[in-house]
Amino acid sequence: MRTWWKRIILGGVAVLAISQLARPSRVNPPVTAAHTIDAVLTVNPEVAATFKRSCNDCHSNLTVWPWYSNIAPVSWLLAYDARRGRTALNFSEWTTYSDKEQQDKLKEICSEVSDKEMPGIPYTLLHPEAKLTDADTGFICAWTKSMQPK
Ligand code: HEC
Repeated sequence: MRTWWKRIILGGVAVLAISQLARPSRVNPPVTAAHTIDAVLTVNPEVAATFKRSCNDCHSNLTVWPWYSNIAPVSWLLAYDARRGRTALNFSEWTTYSDKEQQDKLKEICSEVSDKEMPGIPYTLLHPEAKLTDADTGFICAWTKSMQPK
């Protein structure tokens, strides 16, 4: 019995050690000021602060990679999240969207935060400060609405 446990633990350690060899890239794509959301929209300070605190790790090229993002398999999950998040919505590449897409993204942002879909429970477990208050959601939706053509 005891040798079994030892084998399982040693096996687990070996798998973890080997998995460290597959290192996803944590190099953020460059940010070009002229392509960011700030280049075309006035993001008020409350909303900008909330995006920075709760969204930018997955929805911009300004991802802050925590120390545990070095360790597989967490590193793979975080890299995957950032890749998928940036594909869905990237504040650093905002001007690559057509006017229609920008309008749709603004509406989506309000609806995702109102439905409490974003920033997502796994993320807020690791980043409790990223949780949105009702006030944060209110500021975001008031802002997205103010950006729609009248
Ligand atoms: C942990 C990473 C992560 C964080 C943090 C995060 N998101 Fe997301 N978000 C995703 C991923 C992945 C997708 C695409 C898949 C999906 O819809 O679940 C997505 C999709 C979206 C979409 C849909 C875009 C579209 O056009 O389909 C919106 C809008 C969005 N997020 C807004 C936000 C906002 C606003 C915040 C901050 C309050 C936020 N997200 C925080 C990972 C994240």
